[in-house]
Amino acid sequence: MAPLLSVESLRTQFATSAGVVRAVDGLSFAIDRGEVLGLVGESGCGKSVTSLSIMRLVPPPGAIVGGSIRLDGDDLLDKDAEAMRRVRGARIGMVFQEPMTSLNPVFTIGDQIAAAVLAHAGGSRRAAWECAVEMLDHVQVPSPRERARDYPHQLSGGLRQRAMIALALAPGPQLLIADEPTTALDVTIQAQILDLLRRLQAERGMAVLLITHDLGVVAELCHRVAIIYAGRIVEMAPVASIFSEPLHPYTRGLLRCLPHPSRFGQPLSSIDGAPPDLRQANGGCRFAPRCPLVQERCRHDEPALAERKPGHVVACPVVTV
Ligand SMILES: Nc1ncnc2c1ncn2[C@@H]1O[C@H](COP(=O)(O)OP(=O)(O)OP(=O)(O)O)[C@@H](O)[C@H]1O
Ligand SMILES: [Mg+2]
Repeated sequence: MAPLLSVESLRTQFATSAGVVRAVDGLSFAIDRGEVLGLVGESGCGKSVTSLSIMRLVPPPGAIVGGSIRLDGDDLLDKDAEAMRRVRGARIGMVFQEPMTSLNPVFTIGDQIAAAVLAHAGGSRRAAWECAVEMLDHVQVPSPRERARDYPHQLSGGLRQRAMIALALAPGPQLLIADEPTTALDVTIQAQILDLLRRLQAERGMAVLLITHDLGVVAELCHRVAIIYAGRIVEMAPVASIFSEPLHPYTRGLLRCLPHPSRFGQPLSSIDGAPPDLRQANGGCRFAPRCPLVQERCRHDEPALAERKPGHVVACPVVTV
């Protein structure tokens, strides 16, 4: 069966006075129904721009300049603004690091969730309100009937995050995009929110694109993971294979940066060098200047993703399996 979401050769750029920033530059991946895909990479590598591109919410001076995005076979780049609003209202839900980007400070959370329900399913205001209370209960907000009458600022950070998740899920989306949903929360609350996302995903069987720079979060939640570097995917594989047999030198570097009990007391390693300037296209592998395995050909041939083991693709012809 065709995947639920398929992104092919996506290119999104920002035309700034300092030059064209190629934030997403030939990015391809697919998500199946009910699948949780992690998108992982360093800060600035294009994770958020990828999710904004899928939602068609790239802010100016940014624009999608190439590629295709299909949801259930539907070409999202072909839709007009009104049709795209309907997709966002019903078929794709989104949660962010900062709940106040989707919660409106001047309405109670119950009103906001009820409005999302009304817009999607219609019915009476009273039924929509009941549905909002149920959603809050579903995301384990205590005393949901009382909390529904609260304004966002009256809730703690963790409860606000739950309210945002309830809002995103109210229309029953096929796909949830979660961009660093737990990064701003303290560790205990992070774990609770991850548990909640795992439970909701399993109950609803929805697909999730989980964006994070935290490989620990990936290990807990994802079925597959895509590693992104400078606007392109360099490796994609089932979670277990990424942790047990990472292939791309960048992925190996990322994994070495993880704290590990056997390395207690030793400094964390980090990958030498900095990500490339996205305003320059050098033609070769973007990781070449930082790569311990670099060869001459890497500096001018852009490596394509190739399947090196079943279900495990990598954009590095040098690394040996
Ligand atoms: N409005 C903008 N104008 C110009 N460049 C932008 C704009 N928004 C993003 N970019 C550039 O696009 C690139 C990708 O940014 P993006 O926000 O997707 O990174 P990210 O992977 O989400 O990073 P982080 O982990 O810090 O959230 C960055 O180099 C960034 O500077
Ligand atoms: Mg981001």
